[in-house]
Amino acid sequence: MTTRIGNWFDDRLGWRRVWEAIFKRRIPKVNWWYTLGSATLFVAVNQIVTGILLTIYYVPTPDHAYDSVQYIMTQVPAGWFIRGMHHWGASAMVVLVGLHMLRVILYGAFKYPREITWLTGVVLLLVTIGFGFTGYLLPWDQKAFWATTVGTKIAGAAPGVGDLILRIMRGGEELSAVTLARFFGVHVWALPAALLILVGAHLYLVIRLGISAVPKRGK
Ligand code: HEM
Repeated sequence: MTTRIGNWFDDRLGWRRVWEAIFKRRIPKVNWWYTLGSATLFVAVNQIVTGILLTIYYVPTPDHAYDSVQYIMTQVPAGWFIRGMHHWGASAMVVLVGLHMLRVILYGAFKYPREITWLTGVVLLLVTIGFGFTGYLLPWDQKAFWATTVGTKIAGAAPGVGDLILRIMRGGEELSAVTLARFFGVHVWALPAALLILVGAHLYLVIRLGISAVPKRGK
């Protein structure tokens, strides 16, 4: 019965070929360092799920942002847990993406034919840092406010275009409701969209090219 249903769908969707291409690949003998990309992906999914849940109660305005976070922490059932998962997941993702990149560098896995996998990875690293930077402001407490004041000021010190960058980031001269709205928009819409597209391209290439083998000593 289940095979018949499976066949019915396969005739129409061709899903078996896709399934086999993803899960029945032949791979060289690898080691635990090769799990770091998947670990990063796992945490990224955690960030998306817990992030969506947080937006149900979080309010991105100076009047309500701080209180809405307090409400999540003290009143919403398991709110502290969801926020904790998102908070620590953010740090874990930065660490894991860094270690994954280190593995790729040390194994020379960025070389032909994986240059484009590497390039999509570099942008994924920037996206991950962007998530951290924009997310830090959202609790709208003293730490968030001053860290972003300093962070945007540093970006503003860039020669020539610095002032323009600072104004674009802050949405004016100073940190304000506009800055918070801007950071929220980037954090929950622009960066997740970029992440999904880039992860899609990254994994497509990993599957298409196959995983690189562990480099041998000598020769
Ligand atoms: C959100 C961030 C990222 C995710 C979710 C991700 C995910 C993955 C996964 C699942 C793999 C296959 C398994 C593995 O090699 O660990 C992989 C491979 C690869 N990744 Fe990433 N990655 C990310 C960021 C990066 C970064 C920052 C770089 C480098 C700048 C990079 C470069 C590569 C390369 C070159 C491969 C192919 C490795 C090989 O064939 O041995 N990735 N990635």
